[in-house]
Amino acid sequence: MDMSCEDKQTEEEEEMGDSPAEEEIKKDESQEINGLSKNQLRKLKKRERWLLVKKEKRKHERLKKKKRKAEAVEKGLDVGPSRKALKQNSMKQSKCQMKVVIDCSFDSYMSEKDVMKLVKQLQSCYSLNRRAENPLQLYICGCSGKTQERLDNIGDCSRWDVNFSPEKYSELFDKSSLIYLSSESDNVLDDLQEDKVYVIGGLVDHNHYKGLCHRLAVDADISHAQLPISQYLEMKSRKVLTVNHVFEILLQYTKTKDWSKSLFQVIPGRKGVKCLTNESSRDETEADANMKADCDKTDKTPDSESAKDEEPTQMKS
Ligand SMILES: C[S@@+](CC[C@H](N)C(=O)[O-])C[C@H]1O[C@@H](n2cnc3c(N)ncnc32)[C@H](O)[C@@H]1O
Repeated sequence: MDMSCEDKQTEEEEEMGDSPAEEEIKKDESQEINGLSKNQLRKLKKRERWLLVKKEKRKHERLKKKKRKAEAVEKGLDVGPSRKALKQNSMKQSKCQMKVVIDCSFDSYMSEKDVMKLVKQLQSCYSLNRRAENPLQLYICGCSGKTQERLDNIGDCSRWDVNFSPEKYSELFDKSSLIYLSSESDNVLDDLQEDKVYVIGGLVDHNHYKGLCHRLAVDADISHAQLPISQYLEMKSRKVLTVNHVFEILLQYTKTKDWSKSLFQVIPGRKGVKCLTNESSRDETEADANMKADCDKTDKTPDSESAKDEEPTQMKS
């Protein structure tokens, strides 16, 4: 193998052994500085550098967004609701009182990376709900461990218009009102009812724990049901959706009362969906491709639960 001058020099230096001064430096480096090892210090510096870059990047993105919005306003395009208008879309004032719980009691089943993805999906649910004219009554229950830590780290989510509860959903609601959503259930949803509580499993597992939520619901004697995907769509891939997509489908359905529209609109085109009612198909569109490209910058996992699925509304707009 070809060796650069630098490599050769280093090798020669290594053969010659360290000078007493160099030995002293090495000794210092291996020792702890302020209680931190050399490795920890290096990681800390790397994180500090990353935080600086992230701050700059965010600033740049905010400016770009502002510019895009100003251009759209100038062209007379719809730029969506203002912040002020969004504040009025509270759960309390919503005409829809249907409850949706995200069951976050799966902390021990997820890696740190998957917890991060789950929290992104929770952020997405919150953001979708806030933008809805009639938000659903959203509950995030049973958070603990890494999930709670991550939520605490993303900012002040206690200000979110969401019902957070450290308790398990089963302690908050009557068992007879609960319907656990699961793609493994034999029951199929045909409508949504205001007096029911729909539970979504807050789990990002890349299907490692196939059927877990369904099993838990059966064991706890809780009703369960799957979304009516096969009734309205033909799909090339598996029918296990991410938390935010399931939430968005429920939200859309409460607005449209139309499963076909709601499912077709939300399920990503790359899943190869074809509408059975009007034959329209949606393989990857330009918007999907852009969405993928945006998200691939932050996540390379080729799975339905990767970050590219995380923020569909923001990226669609
Ligand atoms: C990524 S999935 C978790 C998959 C996990 N292996 C399980 O046991 O459910 C996240 C949650 O979304 C909901 N979900 C996903 N696809 C669904 C479908 N086709 N019908 C109903 N609920 C679904 C379920 O509540 C599920 O727990």
